[in-house]
Amino acid sequence: MKENHHDVVRKQFSKQAPRFGETGRPLASREYLDWMVTNLDLEPHWRVLDVAAGTGHLGRAIAPHVRRVVAVDITPQMLNAGVSQAEEDGISNIVFAQSLAEQVPHPNDTFDIVVSRFAIHHFEHPNISITEMVRVCRLGGRVAVIDLVMPDDDALAATYNRLERLRDPSHTRALSVRELEGLLQGAGLEIIQTISCDVDVSVDHWLDLTGTSPEIGRAIVEELAQELKGLKATGMRPFLRNNELMFEQTWLIVVGEK
Ligand SMILES: C[S@@+](CC[C@H](N)C(=O)[O-])C[C@H]1O[C@@H](n2cnc3c(N)ncnc32)[C@H](O)[C@@H]1O
Repeated sequence: MKENHHDVVRKQFSKQAPRFGETGRPLASREYLDWMVTNLDLEPHWRVLDVAAGTGHLGRAIAPHVRRVVAVDITPQMLNAGVSQAEEDGISNIVFAQSLAEQVPHPNDTFDIVVSRFAIHHFEHPNISITEMVRVCRLGGRVAVIDLVMPDDDALAATYNRLERLRDPSHTRALSVRELEGLLQGAGLEIIQTISCDVDVSVDHWLDLTGTSPEIGRAIVEELAQELKGLKATGMRPFLRNNELMFEQTWLIVVGEK
């Protein structure tokens, strides 16, 4: 039987779960989490939903600033790692539950803010998940999406997304800033904030997290090396730092009001 995309996601993230919180990875970086939390303008009485929360990096960073966080994800191993980490950190106002982003088990208008970080590019139908996030957000509340973004140039974005999918088959398509804003607007939200930052990523660390095979890793590195020689651009903006191959990601926070 053909694997569906949810199976592909679960297989990928059950593999990544034990390593997801390792220090030194940009995803776990305190500096970037602080940047995200600061830009969400949280209020102490807020009830928060973190969708496709994984191990709850963002939800756990948000928890000390709000009343309660619910973190949902499709991959049990990611949720279990999040529960252990929250216990270790003494965070008691976060709960983890298994749920699809496309069908969240909460009534309409339940949360003050619904967030989702680095997950849209794993969804087959991001519009369905965003509509669901808007449904469970109260009127006047916020939906905040944080994700890596693609260049505006369609050809570059297609190459960059192809390399991401080679590295990790659970990657569907990361969007451009314009497309992400359009996604939120299409779900009826008014955009109230868009902010981005550039993040340097080690190609070795990036391939290591997803357990990409050495053969595929070499093929990706070869395309990046070609770009460094001035040949075909990949959209990934590769560069060398002390002889280490790096590339530059752009991370975006886009916040809409319901
Ligand atoms: C790159 S991880 C990001 C985790 C977390 N949001 C963070 O920023 O650290 C992507 C997560 O999305 C989850 N995911 C992907 N598709 C999903 C879906 N349709 N429903 C729920 N979770 C999903 C995966 O299980 C994984 O934990």
